[in-house]
Order: sequence, then C-alpha cells, then structure tokens
Amino acid sequence: MKNYSNVTIFDHPLVNHKIAILRDEKTSMKEFRELIEEITTLMTFECLREGVPTTERVVKTPLETCTQRVVKDNSIVIVPILRAGLGMVNGVHVLFPSARVGHIGLYRNEETLEPCEYYCKLPDGIEDKLVLVVDPMLATGGSACDAITKLKERGCKNIKFMAVIGAPEGVSRVAETHPDVHVFVSTLDRCLNENGYILPGLGDAGDRLFGTK
Ligand code: PRP
Ligand code: URA
Repeated sequence: MKNYSNVTIFDHPLVNHKIAILRDEKTSMKEFRELIEEITTLMTFECLREGVPTTERVVKTPLETCTQRVVKDNSIVIVPILRAGLGMVNGVHVLFPSARVGHIGLYRNEETLEPCEYYCKLPDGIEDKLVLVVDPMLATGGSACDAITKLKERGCKNIKFMAVIGAPEGVSRVAETHPDVHVFVSTLDRCLNENGYILPGLGDAGDRLFGTK
C-alpha cells in the first residue's frame, strides 16, 4: 500500500497482543466485546493527540494558581457505523463520558458489497464538533466513505475515522476519497477475499459482538 499522510497504522505491541486474541475464533462474545472496547480506548488516546478543541482553565493547586489546557466541553461527537461500530462507543466514552453519539446505519449488500443506508440520527450542532467515526472493520471502504460523505453533507469539517482492522483496499479508498480525514487503523491486514472479508481478519465483527451467528 502507498504511504498516505492522512493514515496512521498503530502497530503497537499492546494493541497487537489484544488483536491476536480478538482474531481467535475461540474467543467468546464477552471477551471479544471487552477487547474491542479496550483497543478503542488505546486508539482514542493517540487519535486525539491532535485536532481536539481545547481551552484554558485556571486551577488552584495547593501551592499556587496556574493555567491549564483542557478539552473544551461538548466538543466531541462519536459516530458509530451500525451495527459493529456500536462496540467501540464505550471505549471512547471511558475517556470522554459526556461525548454525544450520532448513529449512521449501513449494511453491505452481500453481492455488490455496496453500502445501503437504513438509519441516520446525528446530534444538533455536530457541524462544529470534532467527529470521531468508528467501525471495527475497514474492508472495501464503501461504508466508511459513505458515512463520511453523509457527515460532510451535514456540514462537518473536522472528522477522524478509526477502525481496528483495515484492508489495504479500504484504507487507500478512504485516504484518497477523503484526504482531509485522518484514518487510524490498529493493524493493516493482507487483502480481501472474494466475499469482501478481510484476510486474515476476525470474521464478521457484528456477528461476533452481538452473537448473531
Ligand atoms: C461491516 C463492518 C463495516 C463494513 C465494512 O458491517 O462493520 O461497517 O462491514 O465493510 P466495507 O468497508 O466493505 O464497507 P456490515 O455491513 O457487515 O453490517 P453489520 O455491522 O450490521 O454487521
Ligand atoms: N465486515 C466484517 O465484519 N468483517 C470483514 O472482514 C469485512 C467486513
């Protein structure tokens, strides 16, 4: 895959360790859900290093008064792509409990692999927030591209996208279609199979999170 200035591949030993357990077909639904949350929290820490709206607050310590930079209230909105993106919401909420949540419902047509929208509900004022779009799987990139386009149509200007596992095809597609959006992926897998599943991947993230198979 080409090098993109708007793509970060984590490849961090702690995250990789958790991804090994996540991939394992024997991992239970409970453990899978917990791992997705933990990985999301670790990713969020790095993903929000830049671009977070901050302000100054005066703090009185036991010794003196100082000015400290803090995250601006109500400045971040999490947007999970349903269903599997829901599994990442708590992982961000651990760090930003008051972040509002918008939902975009997309499913991939199993034959064409094209995303179909079935739901969209976004918080008022989202246009002025930092929008963190989350989905564990970035396969062809169709779902991520459509969700980001939808947010831009709504007026959002500060968007980041976070996925646990990415395929080169999907990462390139999002990076090129939306060069203004930073894409964060924990790990870059080899390729897609003929059904659009990521190899080696982890299977169907939605099914493993919610026990639907
Ligand atoms: C999965 C996944 C992404 C999408 C990725 O969702 O959670 O949203 O596929 O594939 P793409 O990059 O090729 O668009 P799916 O459509 O299976 O729906 P689900 O989350 O409801 O299971
Ligand atoms: N969606 C998934 O859940 N898994 C894949 O490998 C690809 C898309």
